[in-house]
Amino acid sequence: MAQPSPTAVPADTPRHIAIIMDGNGRWAKQRHRPRTFGHSEGVEALRRTVEAAGELGVRYLTVFGFSTENWRRPMEEINALFDLLRLYVARDLDRLVKEGVRVHVIGSREGLQADIARIIEEAEAKTRHNDAQHLIIAFNYGGQDEIARAARRIAEDVSAGKLAPQDVSVDRFESYLDTAGLPAPDLLIRTSGELRLSNFMLWQAAYAELVFVDVLWPDFDKAALQAAIGAYHRRERRFGGSDAEQP
Ligand code: FPP
Repeated sequence: MAQPSPTAVPADTPRHIAIIMDGNGRWAKQRHRPRTFGHSEGVEALRRTVEAAGELGVRYLTVFGFSTENWRRPMEEINALFDLLRLYVARDLDRLVKEGVRVHVIGSREGLQADIARIIEEAEAKTRHNDAQHLIIAFNYGGQDEIARAARRIAEDVSAGKLAPQDVSVDRFESYLDTAGLPAPDLLIRTSGELRLSNFMLWQAAYAELVFVDVLWPDFDKAALQAAIGAYHRRERRFGGSDAEQP
């Protein structure tokens, strides 16, 4: 992956882009193929997008791979999505390690098969020292679940006497989220024309610019990413203030 030198990246490039990769099922249906075919083509779109983000100097990319609500899907489709994570890590991890990409996986580890939990730990451990680009995979992830798990850990620390209730601030709360230490997304893209957040990064997206595009995820590519970044550039970010100053 050709990553530009930091000085070659335009200053207004979003630092963090989060993507709801939607439309795999419809893409497959249009081709009279099973939904799982749409998901496997979705992995190809993911590969293209990670590479394109690197080339454009976007340092943090978060993708929604499997939501806490996806457990309601047929078991065959759930198994296919888990297999795709296995395949993606098996095929791409060495390259990600070499190319300086740090992998983070956010979401609940509860209820995951042991080999999936091990694969996630391996991907995080092997890329731990990388910093050129960050790929954050939301897997078994739900924004409400993430906030509830953070609140539970805060309550545990308060009752153990490790944390005083008056010290629970926005910054402190953030340090209990799965995304602790990562910047908030500047731009959140959802493909396939749906206009919802679907429980994705509810806390972190507080000031993200939302861009909804009609393209179905398996068709997403560098040009689509550049078009979304173009839409982001046309927005005026005020963060609740009256000009474009950051909070
Ligand atoms: C939404 O499309 C997409 C998903 C539920 C899964 C996204 C997963 C991938 C792109 C590949 C696997 C991920 C990793 C991390 C390797 P949909 O099925 O809801 O599409 P539809 O709305 O058209 O039915």
